[in-house]
Amino acid sequence: MKNLADLRREYEKPPLHKSDLNKSPVSQFEIWLEEAKAIGECEANAMTLSTVSLNGEVSARVVLLKMISPSGTLQFYTNYGSRKSEDIEGNPRVSLNFWWPLSMRQVRINGIASKLSNDESRKYFQERPRNAQIGAWASKQSQLLKSRELLEDFYLRTAKRFEGKEVSMPPFWGGYEVKAKSWEFWQGQSCRLHDRFLYTEEAETLWRIERLFP
Ligand SMILES: Cc1cc2nc3c(=O)[nH]c(=O)nc-3n(C[C@H](O)[C@H](O)[C@H](O)COP(=O)(O)O)c2cc1C
Repeated sequence: MKNLADLRREYEKPPLHKSDLNKSPVSQFEIWLEEAKAIGECEANAMTLSTVSLNGEVSARVVLLKMISPSGTLQFYTNYGSRKSEDIEGNPRVSLNFWWPLSMRQVRINGIASKLSNDESRKYFQERPRNAQIGAWASKQSQLLKSRELLEDFYLRTAKRFEGKEVSMPPFWGGYEVKAKSWEFWQGQSCRLHDRFLYTEEAETLWRIERLFP
């Protein structure tokens, strides 16, 4: 058995006070995201998305946040035939988690996911680099794949099919938006006495902010 108990470090970042927090969790999140980018966090927009299947099996994976609206919806894009999509179709309750190690910060967002319209997805799809557009066609995401060669072959055949043409959006590809119901901001502190604040919605745009034990 591998013992990882010696992997231990003190978290020595400035504390987080309630008075530091913006009234709006969306604004607070945007401040932290900008700081994460500025400090050089790798893939600062990467978030762990947890979903639950109809039979209660939990599953988590990383996706990229592509858009956040002032009202607190967070968008990501994926394959609608994937495991995550199957989970969301059966149970739209999801949890998102950002972990920014350089700033010792974590944000957890719980909410309800729903599909974006085809027009919205298409708008983003058209902005993607051509190789990513072709890649979207080539992947039957989450299905069994016999070999890497097969995947590369799918890619090359798709590239040929669209040669000299615009790559259309696959019908099995698109975005989701997660309407946030609660936001939790966590700042690592020394002695494991971390600062945690939970935002819950009291009324439209009115959020209650409470401190939690670490
Ligand atoms: C940094 C990073 C970013 C990723 N971004 C996405 C993404 O935006 N959309 C996506 O479908 N998969 C993304 N993936 C791959 C997913 O983590 C996952 O492997 C894939 O979506 C299949 O998940 P599923 O089988 O649970 O549906 C990313 C992985 C990493 C590590």
